[in-house]
Amino acid sequence: MSRRNPQSAEEKALLQRAQRYLPGAQNGNASSSFEDGFIVKEGRGSKIYDFSGNEYIDYLLGSGPMILGHAHPAVVKAVRQCLERGSTYFLTSGVAIELAEEICRAVPCAEMVRFTTSGTDATFQCLRAARAYRRRDKVLKFEGGYHGSHDYAMMSSYSFQLADFPKPVPNSAGIPKVIQETVLIAPFNDLDATTRIIRQHHDQLAGVIVEPLQRIIPPAAGFLEGLRDVTARYDIPLIFDEVVTGFRLAYGGAQEQYGVEPDMVAIGKVVGGGYPLAAVCGRADIMRHYDSSQVAEDAYIPQVGTLSGNPIAATAGLATLAELRKPGTYQRLHGIGRRLRTALQETLDQAEIPAQVVGDDTVFDVCFTDEKVTDYRSTLGANRDRMRQFNRLLLEQGILKAGQKFYMSLAHTDEDVQRTIEAFQSVAEKLQAA
Ligand SMILES: Cc1ncc(COP(=O)(O)O)c(C=O)c1O
Repeated sequence: MSRRNPQSAEEKALLQRAQRYLPGAQNGNASSSFEDGFIVKEGRGSKIYDFSGNEYIDYLLGSGPMILGHAHPAVVKAVRQCLERGSTYFLTSGVAIELAEEICRAVPCAEMVRFTTSGTDATFQCLRAARAYRRRDKVLKFEGGYHGSHDYAMMSSYSFQLADFPKPVPNSAGIPKVIQETVLIAPFNDLDATTRIIRQHHDQLAGVIVEPLQRIIPPAAGFLEGLRDVTARYDIPLIFDEVVTGFRLAYGGAQEQYGVEPDMVAIGKVVGGGYPLAAVCGRADIMRHYDSSQVAEDAYIPQVGTLSGNPIAATAGLATLAELRKPGTYQRLHGIGRRLRTALQETLDQAEIPAQVVGDDTVFDVCFTDEKVTDYRSTLGANRDRMRQFNRLLLEQGILKAGQKFYMSLAHTDEDVQRTIEAFQSVAEKLQAA
């Protein structure tokens, strides 16, 4: 039985207005169908509330940024103080310098920082910087890797149509055909195949971009190390997309957790504390391409953003990072995730539902398949209808998650975890009976 209240008249009217004014009745974020959809009224701590009086335990967390939970008092206080001093200047502010300094302290490969407002812009800029440094055009990404919605990123990210490696498959209408000639695709976790592609194309390659934890798929032993070696051999910048993993897997991100240091990194989400901020970071000799006094005119990247390094976002980021630096934080975050993912796997095993819980303790999900999940193609056999049902049944129990991710936060309490485990049991029974 659903624990949710039926849609209120107010929520129904809002959904109708969303349909009228927003394509797909959404902002380009997670969407839920019109029937079981809801409109968010507010978020507090580990919970989201809708306009029909429902409370949800939130594992979507704004698609990752809200690692402290919604409206964390330390972030709210810092932002409130900042608001009194103006909201944007189009000039360098003290807080932006402070945040850049803290990022360089935390993230192993970061020697310098250039702020952007979205993760999409950050990965786009990383690729452009690699091209400026290498004076070559092609970039290599991995099948199933997501790097935002720019033309180079929307290739072989989530298509059912498969091509022979290294040929890309565009995932969006409106991408010029010529872009396909500049993107090579490799299979994640297959070091031999990736090395072959890099060897064959190294002379044209500007950079290699990878999500070190691809969506929820962990890197196989030696994969990132091998990728590091082969890219270093040809002086091809290795770019980690840590928009999700940065300050989440560990304070220093995936590069700290896995012990592999790239040349550049794109970070976003957590680092902006829930405000629009992301960053390109990396080796000083690559980052100098953003400084016209350091490189020739034809090697300079004039990256300009009206809101880049926005002081309110930088303040929220600094306040968030200060909380994350407190002792025991990551142990606690991992502990919450470990309890939940273990319970989820056990529950599905007991119900004899073929499923694997895949990922890191801090961000994971279930794949309804027997096949070992190591790359994009091994996810294609998963039962997608069951996944949709799983997400819908959880929502009925007051558990909100991303379509293919549970994000953990420090705001999730023991009671939240217990309620979620009970919901897993109820959902597993329904899936078993379906
Ligand atoms: C790994 C990764 N890179 C880049 C992006 C794009 O970030 P944004 O949505 O801020 O543009 C995302 C967004 O979810 C992401 O998961």
